[in-house]
Amino acid sequence: MEKPYETYNIFREKAKIQTINTGELMHVKIRPLKIEDALISYKWRNNPKIWEYTYNRPDKEITSEIEIQWLKRVLKKPDEKRFAIIADGKYVGNTQLTNITNEYAVLHIFIGETDYWGKNVASEAVALLIEYAKNELNLSEIYLEVNNGNKSAINLYKKLKFEFIPFKTRTNWQIMYRNLLMSSFPPPERDNWGFLYEIFS
Ligand SMILES: CC(C)(COP(=O)(O)OP(=O)(O)OC[C@H]1O[C@@H](n2cnc3c(N)ncnc32)[C@H](O)[C@@H]1OP(=O)(O)O)[C@@H](O)C(=O)NCCC(=O)NCCS
Repeated sequence: MEKPYETYNIFREKAKIQTINTGELMHVKIRPLKIEDALISYKWRNNPKIWEYTYNRPDKEITSEIEIQWLKRVLKKPDEKRFAIIADGKYVGNTQLTNITNEYAVLHIFIGETDYWGKNVASEAVALLIEYAKNELNLSEIYLEVNNGNKSAINLYKKLKFEFIPFKTRTNWQIMYRNLLMSSFPPPERDNWGFLYEIFS
C-alpha cells in the first residue's frame, strides 16, 4: 500500500554521500515540504543566481508572507508532491514532482543554499525522488525541461540516466526523459506527444 505522503521520510543508508570539497560524509534526505519551510525558502527566491537558468523565476521581491501563501496553495494540489532537501539536518533546497498522472510526472529541483552546490547533494536528492516516483507512485516515466546553458543540471540529470528526447518546445530549452521501468532508451511509442506541449509551453 502507498505510504501517506505526509509521513514520508526518504533516505537510504548509502545516502551518506561524500562531499567533493571536504571528503566528509553527508547525510541527505528528502521529506515533504511544510508551510514553515517558507520562512527559509523565501530568501532563496530573492537570489537571482539560483534562477538564472530556470524557466519560472520570481519577478518581484518575495516576502515570507508571499511564500507562505504560495506554499499553502501549491501543497493542496493533488497532482504535485513537493519535498524539502535536508543535508546533515539543514534544509537546503526543494525538489518536486508536478503534473503527476498515472504514468508520468515532471521533475524540478533547486538547491537554495548555494554553498551546497557541487557537493552531490542535488544528485542524491533527485535519486531519492526517482525512487519515490517509482516505488510509491508507481510511475514509469519522468520528464523535465532544462536550459542548454545549465551545465551542472545537465550533468546531474545525465548521471542519473536522463536522456534528451527529440522534442522541441522552446529555443534554448530541451526536454529530458527518464524511464523508470527500463534502464535504457527509447521512450515508449506514443500516438502523440501533445501532452508535452501543454506542460512545457
Ligand atoms: C542545478 C543544481 C540543482 C545542481 O546542483 P549541484 O549541487 O551542483 O549538483 P551536484 O553537486 O549533485 O552535481 C551534479 C553534477 O554537475 C557537476 N557540476 C557541478 N557544478 C558544475 C558546473 N558549474 N559546471 C559543470 N558541471 C558542474 C558535478 O560535478 C556533478 O557531476 P559529477 O558528479 O559527474 O561530477 C544547482 O546548481 C541549482 O540548484 N541550480 C539552480 C536551480 C536550477 O537551475 N535547477 C535546475 C533546473 S533544470
